[in-house]
Formats: sequence, C-alpha cells, structure tokens
Amino acid sequence: MIDRINALLQEVEAFKADDFASVEAARIEWLGRKGVITELFDTFKTLGPNEKKQLGAALNSLKNNAQNKIEQLKLSVKPVSKNTALEDFSMPAVPFIKSGSRHPLSLVKHDIIGIFSQLGFTVSEGPEIEDDWHNFTALNTPIDHPARDMQDTFYIDHPQEYVLRTQTSSVQVRLMEQQQPPIRTLSPGRVYRNEAISARAHCQFHQIEGLYVDDKVSFADLKQTLSHFIHQFFGSQTKIRMRPSYFPFTEPSAEVDVSCTLCSGKGCNVCKHSGWLEVMGCGMVDPQVFENCGIDAKRYSGFAFGMGIERLAMLKFGIKDLRLFFENDLRFLNQFRRS
Ligand code: DAH
Repeated sequence: MIDRINALLQEVEAFKADDFASVEAARIEWLGRKGVITELFDTFKTLGPNEKKQLGAALNSLKNNAQNKIEQLKLSVKPVSKNTALEDFSMPAVPFIKSGSRHPLSLVKHDIIGIFSQLGFTVSEGPEIEDDWHNFTALNTPIDHPARDMQDTFYIDHPQEYVLRTQTSSVQVRLMEQQQPPIRTLSPGRVYRNEAISARAHCQFHQIEGLYVDDKVSFADLKQTLSHFIHQFFGSQTKIRMRPSYFPFTEPSAEVDVSCTLCSGKGCNVCKHSGWLEVMGCGMVDPQVFENCGIDAKRYSGFAFGMGIERLAMLKFGIKDLRLFFENDLRFLNQFRRS
C-alpha cells in the first residue's frame, strides 16, 4: 500500500491542467466518492493497528496534497464556461457594467475652460434661441449690414425677429448688459447655421466665446492670452500667427493661425500645404458695442475671441469628418476614454 501512496503522491505533484474541466476530473478521480484516495481510506479502515500507524501519516498527507493542488489549480485556470465560473465562488468578480465616457467635444470644451480658468475666466451661458438684437444688431450688424451674409441664419417664424443663434458672441452682449467691468468670461455653447452637411460643415456646431473687459486692456494682452492658451492646448512647440481680418464687433480684428498640428508646419493635405491652420477669430471690442451694452467706452477697453470646438477637436484628435461628432457611434466615442 505504501508504494501505491507514493506513486499517487508523485502523480499529484506532477499534475498540470489549464482548464477547469481537467481540474474537476482530477478531483473526482482522486477524491470523489469512488476516487482512488477515498478507496485507500476505505482499505485503511480494515488494517490492523500496526499498519495503521505506519501508513496513517502518509495517507493523510496524500489527501492534503491532493486537496491543496485542486484548490490552487482552480484559482489559476480559466473557467470552461460561464456556468462553471459562476459556480466557483472563489473566482474574482467579472466586471459586467461598462461605464460611459465623455463625448470628445465635452473633453475639448473642458480642456479649454480649464486653461482659461487658470487665468481667472469664469463660464457664462446664454439662450440658443436668440433675438436679433443680441445675435446681430448690438454686435454692430444691423439688418441691412453686408456682414450678415457671413452667417447663413435660421430665422424663427415669429412677429418679433428670433433666430437660432449663429454665434456665441451673443452671450457677450447679454453679459455686458447685466454686468459692469471687470469681466473675464468664457461662453461655450451650440450654434446653428443653414449650411449643407458635409465632412467640413454642419448646420449645428459648438463655439467658445471669450471676453475680457477692464481698464487698459490692450492688444498685447490679447496676444499673450491666446499664445498661452494655444501653447497649453496644442503644445509649447506650436507656432502662432495673427492675420488682420474683419468682424463687425471688433476693431482691429484678427484671425489666429497655428502651425499645422499634423506636419508641424512643413505642409500637408490638412493645412493645404500652407503649414498653417486657422483656429479662431479675435479682436478689440468695438467701442460702439460697449455703448450698445451700456458700458463706458471711454473708460474701458477689452478683447474678445471666438473658436469652434469641433475644429479644435478635429485638429487635436486627427478627426477628418465633422459628422462623426453627431452620429453617436460607440465605435467612435469609445476611442476617447480618459481614465
Ligand atoms: N463670432 C465669430 C464667428 O462666429 C467668431 C469671433 C470672431 C468671435 C472674433 C469673437 C471675435 O469674439 O472677437 O465667426
């Protein structure tokens, strides 16, 4: 009998398995009701006291070794099926609830707000259905102004002129009407324009407007603030240039370009081989806009800027089609998980 016990001890020690079913088969073969070790214990009971003394310890250690081996293997092998995994309560829990992730536009919006909030900018919001005064007229764009053609507006059928706001600049007006300087705020939100939907244009998109009004705010402050933002957002190696431009509500006005984020300025398809990408409009608030909003233009000066969130997200993440942002395809959205 001792030879049998020793042979089984070796078998137990050498046994390997990499699936749950093989471990279970070994348990039954060794320790099941008709298992070899169980049978050895049955035989053991029939032995005389001297033999019992000689064999008892060896038989017990065979049983213990077999039990330990089974426990160890159960923890290390993969379950064969979901049912066996569920039956084995010693298995670590399998997470089955997948948490959601933020939309890439929200991620970029939060990044932008985070950078400007370090400079003391707060966040303010305004309505998406806007009256003509706040979207256009107060911003130096009266009804017959040619600059209205820059934005294809959705008008709402109502005796008073209402529009789906075409720009978040409308929030500047609301803020300045309610609050005297110092003002330092960002206004993120959705805007609408009657554009054919394509990879590069959509009838709805998002902007972030910035406004800074105080004593002696200068163009140098504007340039420094935007340089800081762009270096934080795109990286410190990014180059910046400002081109003179026109917006009805700022004078002087500029457009801001950054060195192409894909080719670092060497020239590629995305930057149309110019090495530069336009990222926002900006300028010094026109004194007439201050007067329209009840702010003393002789005492205060300020700057404003406006950027498209989709555009920044496309450049940052290398997204080629604007429509992806609005389709809610999980294969797209799941690529923007941040822990
Ligand atoms: N509202 C402009 C647009 O939608 C963007 C813009 C340009 C905003 C210059 C500004 C600015 O505040 O100063 O195209």
